[in-house]
Formats: sequence, C-alpha cells, structure tokens
Amino acid sequence: MNRFCLLAPRWRNSLAVVAVSAMFVGAVAMTVAKDAETPPAKKKLTGEQLYAINCARCHAERYPTEATKAEWKTLMTHMRVRANLPAKQSKEILKYLQENCGTNP
Ligand code: HEC
Repeated sequence: MNRFCLLAPRWRNSLAVVAVSAMFVGAVAMTVAKDAETPPAKKKLTGEQLYAINCARCHAERYPTEATKAEWKTLMTHMRVRANLPAKQSKEILKYLQENCGTNP
C-alpha cells in the first residue's frame, strides 16, 4: 500500500492539483529560461574594432598613418606578442592598419 492511499480522497485531489500546477510553473520557467539563454548572434569583429580593443590598453591608439605599411608589419610582430593576440586577429589588425596607413611599401 502506498502512502497516498492513506490520505483522505479530498487530500489526494488537492495533491494532484498541486502537482499539476507545479508542472505548469516548471514548464513556464523552462520556456522563459530558454529564451534568456539564447545566445546573441555571434558577429565577427573587424580589424578596426580589434585594434581599438587590444591596442589601446597599454598606450594611446596610434593613427594608422603614423607608420608605413612595412613598419606596421614589424610593429605588429612586436605588439602581437604584447597584446597576446591569436594569429587571425593579428592579421585582421595588420590588414586594417596597412589599408589605412596611406603608404605603398
Ligand atoms: C601589453 C602592453 C601593450 C599592448 C597590448 C600593445 N602595446 Fe604597443 N607598445 C607597448 C610598449 C611598452 C611600447 C613602447 C616600448 C616599445 O616600443 O617596445 C609600445 C609601443 C608601440 C608603438 C610605437 C613604437 C615606436 O617605436 O614608436 C606602436 C606603433 C605600438 N606600440 C602599436 C601597438 C599595436 C598595433 C598594438 C596592438 C596589436 C599594441 N601596440 C599593443 C605596449 C603594448
């Protein structure tokens, strides 16, 4: 004999009501939580944004025109290590700097 059989019938009914409402509240909570957990669309940062985020931490951001295309390549090999950047981000930043430095070599 299980424990519920010992309860008067009206108690059994109210227990059922409580169980059903608990399930309902649970379902609603799960739906709300699922909405809140939906990650925002992942967007890729541009070289310009990566530059602003990473390269102004230790010193003021330099204008891309402050160095030549070739100098930026060298500077990036030094600063990439300082900023601890992954290759892909370093490449994006270098591309941004070289495209906007206004020199050819
Ligand atoms: C952890 C700190 C740090 C970060 C992050 C950093 N730098 Fe630097 N940077 C320095 C220091 C310190 C110097 C000056 C000393 C030197 O030249 O070694 C410097 C100097 C420079 C110079 C001037 C060099 C010269 O000779 O005039 C440039 C340009 C530069 N950084 C660009 C960048 C770029 C681009 C990034 C992002 C990839 C970056 N830095 C990230 C620390 C940092």
